[in-house]
This record gives sequence, structure tokens and C-alpha cells, in this order.
Amino acid sequence: PEGAHRDAGGRIVVGGVPAAEIAEEFGTPAYVVDETEFRRRARAFVDDFAAGFAAAGVSLDVYYAGKAFLCTQVARWVEEEGLSLDVCSGGEFAVARRVGFPGERLEMHGNNKSAAEIEDALRYGVGRIVMDSFDEIDRVARIATDLGVVAPVMLRVTVGVEAHTHEFIATAHEDQKFGFSLTGGQAARAVERTLAHDSLDLRGLHSHIGSQIFDTAGFEVAARRLLGLHAQVAREHGHHMPELDLGGGFGIAYTSENTPLETGELGARLAAIVAGECEREGLDVPAVSIEPGRAIAGPSGYTLYEVGTVKEVALDGGAHRTYVSVDGGMSDNARTALYGADYSVTTANRAGEGEPMISRVVGKHCESGDIVVMDEYLPADLRPGDLLAVPGTGAYCRALSSQYNHVPRPPVVAVRDGVARAIVRRETIDDILALDVD
Ligand code: LLP
Repeated sequence: PEGAHRDAGGRIVVGGVPAAEIAEEFGTPAYVVDETEFRRRARAFVDDFAAGFAAAGVSLDVYYAGKAFLCTQVARWVEEEGLSLDVCSGGEFAVARRVGFPGERLEMHGNNKSAAEIEDALRYGVGRIVMDSFDEIDRVARIATDLGVVAPVMLRVTVGVEAHTHEFIATAHEDQKFGFSLTGGQAARAVERTLAHDSLDLRGLHSHIGSQIFDTAGFEVAARRLLGLHAQVAREHGHHMPELDLGGGFGIAYTSENTPLETGELGARLAAIVAGECEREGLDVPAVSIEPGRAIAGPSGYTLYEVGTVKEVALDGGAHRTYVSVDGGMSDNARTALYGADYSVTTANRAGEGEPMISRVVGKHCESGDIVVMDEYLPADLRPGDLLAVPGTGAYCRALSSQYNHVPRPPVVAVRDGVARAIVRRETIDDILALDVD
């Protein structure tokens, strides 16, 4: 995270706490989250990002996408920093409920919400439910009618933009499970179906074009297409939707190869796009919302491992590669195996000495794809017992973790002003065995 440094002893220090002290107190592997950095990043969206919108006369709501990383403490941080919260399952919703997160600042996502999830959300008074299919429109309408409430809803629209990192593809169709397609009038029919239900209050349209995006060009195409339908609904049905949601997906720097836009600059660009499109369509500008997850949680966290073995493996042509085994792996970070994600890694207990050697950091799981960091230079004198820190693991690592090979999941340790405390405790073998029936 920002502000991480090596102290005089060569130890990595984040949030005022040396990594080695975390290893000693909480053991390894451990996820470490810098609370100050998480809060700063959250605030950067409600302040700096929103400033661009305020300047363009557009109101902005920021929903933290809980799927990136959520636990009770994080839900509190999000609430305290003034963000809203996007949950996409009954489980994430339960966390929000546990901290008494204000219902009107909650949004529920998901392409197959159960009737129970919808009912719980409506009883709690969630601010909006984002609907994803015709079946769901009728289901939410029926449940709202049964409860005697009017459900605030949005429609997820597939805008035909597939965005990944620096490139995006604009097509007519997107062959994936989410949303109502603009093509062939499906999204327009979803609007009609929604408006036909008295128990539904259609607040606006939603799109999410992808994740780990660095350019605003994909958002521009998405906003244009979304606002096209938004204007059509106003013209044809006289229904002026007060909101518009552009989703999340703002990229972070996993390695030095990624260069994200500064948050304020990102906000200014998006605001200009929305304001410009509304002017072109002759529309009253709706209140805009965004749903960043990774950009808040990702850079705020790192994973701390202990080295167990260091082994040289011969490659064709006489070269060799150093394989460094750590005490975790794909169960605590599935992203390298799943997406070929790129991470960096550094020694955390000392700087190390000798000619840096090209290394691959691997886990302890029983498959060869169990790789944490593909290629990184590590000191030549690396040895068992050394600590390694992998930065940028605050998002979609704990969230995607598993108990593969019956490996208990690491704790999440929050650091702040020199104090470390577990905000999620370490799982034990007993936790895992507790589910087995004798
Ligand atoms: N809103 C919606 C509707 C989403 O589906 C997502 C992410 C977000 C917001 C937050 O996107 P973010 O700002 O975090 O990029 N497991 C993958 C990422 C999956 C993202 C799914 N949806 C990964 O580890 O890269």
C-alpha cells in the first residue's frame, strides 16, 4: 500500500506495523489490510471522484462493491466514510444487516436472487434492487405486492461493451449471462414489463462493463448507449428515471506495468461524458452512481507468507528457475491460477543480499498450477523462514478463497497507526471438520 516502507532493519512496515510482528502475533499466511489506506481510497471516490461530478452539476453516489472484500469491520468503514454498499447475495446482505447498514444506502445485485433474498431485502428497505431477467421482474413485483410495498428497482442493461484493461470491444451483442440486451429491443421490453407493475418503481438503468479497466473510452460507449435508452423511455413512456448506474471496474496497479488514472481525473472524465451525452439527448441529468470494489480494497491489502522451501529447477538450455514454496497458495489467492493475474512480491523480514534471482512463488497445494507470483526477482540468499509480502491482494483474494486440500483460510489483520488487530480470525481445522457428519 501507499506509505509502505522498509525500516532500518530491512523489514516491510505498513500502517506502522512491521510485517514480521504480524507474522509473530497472527502467524502466516495472513491477509493484511491497511485500514487508513482503505478509508482514504473510499474517501477519494466520495470526495475527489465526486468533485468532477459536482463541477458538472451532476450528483454522484458511490457504492462499494462488497464482492471485492467484505466483512463486518469493512462494512463499518464503508458506512463511516459515507459510501453506499452493493451486495450481491444473501450472505453479503447479512453482513450489511449485522452492522445496521442504512437500508436506503444498500443496493442488491445478482442474476439469480432467491425469493428469500428478495423478500429479506425488501423488508429491510434496500434502496434498490437491480433486476436481471424477465423472470426476476415478475418475481420482485409479486413479492413486493405480497409485502404491500413498492420496490425501488433498476434494470441491468447489456450495452455491448466488453472492457478489459487497456482495450475494450464495442459490439451489438455480448454473449454472457448478465443483463437485458439493447439489441433486438430486449432492454426496452424489460422497461415496459417493469412499468406495467404497480409494485415496482423503476429508478434507472445500470451497466457494468468489466473489471480492471484503465481507459474511459469503454465507459463512454456504455454511457451513450445507456442514455439512448434512458431518453427513449422518457419519450415513449413519459417516465423520467432519476438515476443511472455505470458500475465499477476501475483498474489498479498490480505491477509497475499498470498505470491507473488518478481518481479525481477519472471522475472528471466520466462526469464530462455523462453531462455531454445528456445534453446531446436533451435530457435532465440523472443522479449517477458507480460501484468500485477493486480500486478501494485491492491496493489496501497485502498477503504475508513464510517461505518453506527454495528449489532450483533446470530449464531447457541450461538455465534454471528458482521455485519458492510458501505456506499458502491458490486457496488464498486464486487469481493467478484463475486469470493468469500478475503480482509482484518482496521479502518482508529483511531486504536480502546477493544477485537477485528470477523466481516463481508457488503454494503448497497439490497441483502444478498453484502459482502465486509467476516471475519476480528475489534475493539470492532467500531461505526457509523468510517472509514474503505480495501487495495488491486486498480485493478478490479473501473473497475468492477456498479450503482446497483442507487448508484453513488465513486471518485478515487490519493495521492502523502502529496497531494490528484481526478483523477476520484464522480458520482452524476444527472449523472445517465441524461441517463433516460422522
Ligand atoms: N458492479 C458490478 C455489477 C459487478 O459485477 C462488479 C464486479 C463490480 C461492480 C465491481 O467491480 P470492480 O470495481 O471491483 O472491478 N473476480 C474477478 C473480478 C470479478 C468482478 C465481478 N464483478 C477478479 O478477481 O479479477
